[in-house]
Amino acid sequence: MRISEPKILSALPELGIEHRAGSSLVDLTSLGIGGTTDLLLIRQHEHMPELVQLLKQEGIPHRFLGGGTNLLVKDGELPWVLLQLAQPVPDMRVEGNFAHVDAAADLGRMVTFCAKNDLGGMEGLIGVPGTVGGALRMNAGAYGTQIGSHVREVEVYRAAAGRTETLRGGEINFEYRHTSFAPGDIMLAVKLELPSKPYREILQGIRICNEKRRASQPLNQKSAGCIFKNPPGGSAGRMIDELGLKGHSVGDARVSDRHANFFVNTGHASFAEMYALVSDVRERVRRAYGAELEEEVIVWNA
Ligand code: EPU
Repeated sequence: MRISEPKILSALPELGIEHRAGSSLVDLTSLGIGGTTDLLLIRQHEHMPELVQLLKQEGIPHRFLGGGTNLLVKDGELPWVLLQLAQPVPDMRVEGNFAHVDAAADLGRMVTFCAKNDLGGMEGLIGVPGTVGGALRMNAGAYGTQIGSHVREVEVYRAAAGRTETLRGGEINFEYRHTSFAPGDIMLAVKLELPSKPYREILQGIRICNEKRRASQPLNQKSAGCIFKNPPGGSAGRMIDELGLKGHSVGDARVSDRHANFFVNTGHASFAEMYALVSDVRERVRRAYGAELEEEVIVWNA
């Protein structure tokens, strides 16, 4: 979708928002799949309410993009524009056992920043790609760590109410790869409480997690991490592997040879190819195990 409304075009510079016309989701997602649309890069999140209001008045639908690392987007000209928070500098600070971090910050950078300030507890998240905001929304986790366990406050723009609110950790449900945030909630900043730990000790934990990840996941290929959530008590990766589906492909979309719950784009996979692979594997698992795999990846197909 292209923004051509003069009212919006003239307001954007005043709000410090950069307009990137015709941006491709191929470049904006880790899977390297998706169509094109206009991207609005927000430098000061204080301007979010005004921007959303303006788009609403002019009848322009929008979606919010975090790091694009857990997203499968349809091809072609997309029927909405994208909003994204630019990463401000500096974006993190520590106060005692609390870390205050902007949602646009890179998750890995946040883990290392906290480690350098002798705050641990998030070693498992080190190799998880994406932004802090994306991690919050889906309660990202790995190697025994889930970000939700450390959240004390989240500053969020609530589209439904049209205003920014600060939620206390206890007001948010953090479950396995799922949270109680509303679809229109946009994460702005978080306050985490983390245990004190010497930097060297945290670094050791980080190294161990990095090694485990390198040994089991296709880190140098285009993917969105695990494509399915694990079913209760089970492992989607193991099930898909047991069915002999590693290497199974539809066009350029392929089940990783390294980890069967990672689906990789080996070249120029289309949305249709990747989604056909997801549906095919889900159907095979359903027939073999009677289990219904739920997508972990967020699919923007409308
Ligand atoms: N397994 C296989 N074949 C495979 C993959 C896995 O047999 O191709 C087996 C493993 O040998 C192991 C079991 O399945 O016995 C579980 O595998 P793994 O330890 O890799 O963990 P996972 O359950 O597949 C989860 C998260 C990952 C996270 C790792 C490490 C989900 C869907 N995935 O994977 O998160 O990095 O644990 O904690 O919960 C993500 O969310 O995108 C993601 C990659």
